[in-house]
Amino acid sequence: MLLKNITHPDCASLDYYEKNGGYQALKHVLHDYVPDQVIATVKASKLRGRGGAGFPTGLKWSFVPKDDGKAHYLCCNADEGEPGTFKDRLLMEQDPHRVIEGMIIAAYAIDARIAYIYIRGEYGLAIARIAQAIKAAYAKGYLGHNISGSDFSLDIYVHKGAGAYICGEETALLESIEGRRGQPKLKPPFPAVEGLYQCPTVINNVETFVCVAHIFAKGVDWFTSIGPEDAPGPRLFGLSGQLKKPGLYELPMGLSLRELVFDYGGGPITGPFKAVIPGGVSAPMIPLAGLDVKMNFADLAAADSMMGSAAVIALDQSASIPVVARRIAEFFSHESCGKCTPCREGLHWASKILNRIEQGQGRPGDVEQLEALCGGIYGNSFCALGVGASWAISATLKHFRHEYDALIIQHTIPVSNRSS
Ligand SMILES: Cc1cc2nc3c(=O)[nH]c(=O)nc-3n(C[C@H](O)[C@H](O)[C@H](O)COP(=O)(O)O)c2cc1C
Ligand code: SF4
Repeated sequence: MLLKNITHPDCASLDYYEKNGGYQALKHVLHDYVPDQVIATVKASKLRGRGGAGFPTGLKWSFVPKDDGKAHYLCCNADEGEPGTFKDRLLMEQDPHRVIEGMIIAAYAIDARIAYIYIRGEYGLAIARIAQAIKAAYAKGYLGHNISGSDFSLDIYVHKGAGAYICGEETALLESIEGRRGQPKLKPPFPAVEGLYQCPTVINNVETFVCVAHIFAKGVDWFTSIGPEDAPGPRLFGLSGQLKKPGLYELPMGLSLRELVFDYGGGPITGPFKAVIPGGVSAPMIPLAGLDVKMNFADLAAADSMMGSAAVIALDQSASIPVVARRIAEFFSHESCGKCTPCREGLHWASKILNRIEQGQGRPGDVEQLEALCGGIYGNSFCALGVGASWAISATLKHFRHEYDALIIQHTIPVSNRSS
């Protein structure tokens, strides 16, 4: 359903969107629902956020205070920085009006009159299509004053990101919109109570808003009939890495990781799979023996990993796990915002150790040192970047210690003493 219209040549145009029922749900909501009914409907749909943490969307909206005399804001998180993730880009490029319709419904529910869409700066086409769609929506009365003859008014602004992964974190995103350096802020207060310009602010992912638009177009029963009871609705899985059929797949949650990478991804390119990362590189990898895990929030948490952005990255026999770990560590060290010491220093140190292991200069005790470093970062970092990075590196040590040992031992035993 989420990808239904995306291959049509006119799919991004307002004309095509309207001809296929677009903005009908919005008109219905604005004329027949009070904001609390909108929130109740989203709660009943059991929609959980598609940005990473899987927080229940209706519950988040219900935290926004009512009649507090303050402005309320809505933000769409389109920063999409998690490596392996490319779903929001396609939605914005090919179905921009659906994103906008979902945002207007959300803004109405929380009484926001100003909304921002924070788009990853490299997404040139997505930025252009969203900007074009906003312009067309204003021209047709879906944005601006008294939308579709109702009392509700809303303005949407596009804000381009400048290439920092941390600006996908919701409080850093708000700092960035306000013109400050993108660094996370202490929670609580959560943005729904004190966010943009110290006013209540709801932040949701692009795919979450797209789901909202579909829920009001097709109904709660339709949405809850798809996938597991506690995490219903369609979900976009980005399959990449060493598999035969990479791509973006729309499927219900609850199917196994094995089904995803074999039945849809076509299996490994070289030999058996070694491991699969289930939710972007912050999500700890799952070794081959664990691939029967179900792709939903609870089962992945029980398997010591997470659903994250549902970006599935497959690693086959040709992958060296210490090299993968080095690349993950370097990425997060580079993207660390520097606010807290465990993440800033620890990730830099971890990537130095991993580099020397890869270059044949590993020392006995390096693995223990890495384990201690990850333990020091995990739980002592200010935001989830440090937590995710250390968790992801730890998983490589836990499941593939033998690969590290092989690299280190190979270089610490004198050549004359080696058996082969
Ligand atoms: C370091 C970091 C980066 C993040 N990047 C993104 C991102 O690119 N897009 C996104 O939607 N959420 C991202 N998140 C999650 C957001 O903070 C937030 O939870 C999400 O946008 C909420 O939307 P949802 O409830 O619809 O999932 C990131 C979180 C962290 C800690
Ligand atoms: S954990 Fe890393 S990214 Fe997060 S606040 Fe600390 S230094 Fe910044």
